[in-house]
Amino acid sequence: MRTVDWVDGRVRLIDQRALPWNFATVDYDDYRLLAQAVTEMVVRGAPAIGAAGAYGMALAARQAVGETARAMLPFIQQAAQTLIDARPTAVNLRWGVQAVLNTALTNADAPVAEFQQRLLNHAQQIADDDVRINQTMGAHGQTLIQDGITVLHHCNTGALAAVDWGTALGVVRSAHEAGKTFHVLLDETRPRLQGARLSAWELEQWGVSYDILPDTAAGHYMARGEINIVLVGADRVAANGDFANKIGTYQIAIMANYHGIPFYCVAPTSTYDAHAASGQDIPIEQRDPAEVTTPYGLELVPAHFKARNPAFDVTPHTLVTGYVTELGILTPPFTFLNS
Ligand code: MRU
Repeated sequence: MRTVDWVDGRVRLIDQRALPWNFATVDYDDYRLLAQAVTEMVVRGAPAIGAAGAYGMALAARQAVGETARAMLPFIQQAAQTLIDARPTAVNLRWGVQAVLNTALTNADAPVAEFQQRLLNHAQQIADDDVRINQTMGAHGQTLIQDGITVLHHCNTGALAAVDWGTALGVVRSAHEAGKTFHVLLDETRPRLQGARLSAWELEQWGVSYDILPDTAAGHYMARGEINIVLVGADRVAANGDFANKIGTYQIAIMANYHGIPFYCVAPTSTYDAHAASGQDIPIEQRDPAEVTTPYGLELVPAHFKARNPAFDVTPHTLVTGYVTELGILTPPFTFLNS
């Protein structure tokens, strides 16, 4: 099933807080609750929250009250802002919401039922495109994987981070489906453990060989010559190629560079932000320190101990070997940003 879907007039999400222990879904008929679900990471991963934002706009169009579609616009514009504000770093969220908002603005003279349907159709299109784009990206990226190699991966970028298939782990899935035999080392990804909980769960199902690593072990295996390539996703890629991804990505990039290991960023063009000239223009989400001290309610240290919890860091383009997109494997400058 899809990570984000539209079922019987509601948005259905796989509840990623419960995995790998429980597989559960939650349905939303209120865009505000959906925005809260994005903030609380019921759904997470840049392409997945982009699709969730787009569907949130379809919900808002059904919640809006008005005689005409045009009269509903202020409510829908307010909903767009609420959805965009749910998480600040992944540009896909803004992209997905803005795309459906533009459809609302250009269809404001349509009859209400048709207006609502057009917004839903656009959200549905974004979700369908996401799957197709990820598979195309996987086909390009899998050429980087040869039999017998070991891939290092950070966070979760699989089907759960997108509508389906995934980005960096989508490349892994494509290589696996092409019959290649290789191993994947999964950074556990403190503090929310997306690598240990979600990526391992996905690779279990796909039948891909893997081991979970403590985040602190990557350098050790690089120094021993046991990592051949690093594949990571992105939450926002700036025009110069600097990109934000899950906290810890930057130090992996530095270590890969030191050891001469190829380091690839795998993200669809919807993750590229033409308005961000460099990584300095990317806002970094700061999350609740309790996720560090008391992850999933487990009191690792006394809850009043102080902690910092930046959710993302920025990797400079100078450390990146290439950028896998649905258009192919690129290097800056990214000409598609000008079209
Ligand atoms: O905080 P998260 O779990 O939403 O962060 C996710 C990541 O950093 C992923 O690497 C990124 O969104 C790319 S997912 C295809």
